[in-house]
Amino acid sequence: MKRHDPLPEEESSVSDRPCPQQVGRSHAPEGPGAASAAARLHLILGPVGAGKSTYALQLARDAGAVRLSLDDWMVRLFRPDRPPTGVVEWYAERAARCVQQIALVAREIVAAGTDAVLELGLLRRSEREAFYASLRDAGVGLTVHLLDAPRDVRRERVLLRNQRRGVTFSMDVPLDVFELASDLWEPIEPDEQAALDLRVVRS
Ligand SMILES: Nc1ncnc2c1ncn2[C@@H]1O[C@H](COP(=O)(O)OP(=O)(O)O)[C@@H](O)[C@H]1O
Ligand SMILES: [Mg+2]
Repeated sequence: MKRHDPLPEEESSVSDRPCPQQVGRSHAPEGPGAASAAARLHLILGPVGAGKSTYALQLARDAGAVRLSLDDWMVRLFRPDRPPTGVVEWYAERAARCVQQIALVAREIVAAGTDAVLELGLLRRSEREAFYASLRDAGVGLTVHLLDAPRDVRRERVLLRNQRRGVTFSMDVPLDVFELASDLWEPIEPDEQAALDLRVVRS
């Protein structure tokens, strides 16, 4: 099983998708030269089918931010080379490298004065903590957006996404993969929350 969210997404517009919450630019620049100081990273977290990609697309559009999705990078870069066996290890290696590179690109975007919206999987707390620490060391502002919905709701959504193949669909996610991916998500506990600028979105 993949260590990161195994659901690739498309990168097209989300204009016809439901959005649980309107998100404005919370750190808008207020004058010349102010953008750089205000720009920050937005990290979208949550279990499979919670609505992360839907939310991220809307947030990026509303905030004038650049969205970077691990799934997009994995699909574009590696899907054609996917081996017939040993996919779990094969995927995990490449996803870890992609996350590192996406994080570097995101930091450059923020340094240039633009917000970045990141979907990186980071299902496990240890992965998230490493990511938080790297941003703290670099002095980059971070807002975490936690998307969540009950498992049965998420299951229905994912099955529907398989059928409808809307803007956040890239690959079929059968039930067994949904259950495995859901089990891999480690919820954000209060002590992890305490150190974060966190927005919780019940979608
Ligand atoms: N708030 C919502 N209410 C109903 N359906 C939603 C909501 N958010 C997303 N969806 C739909 O549910 C499916 C899963 O959403 P998606 O954003 O792809 O989830 P994730 O990226 O977390 O796996 C998609 O088909 C999407 O259109
Ligand atoms: Mg997604």
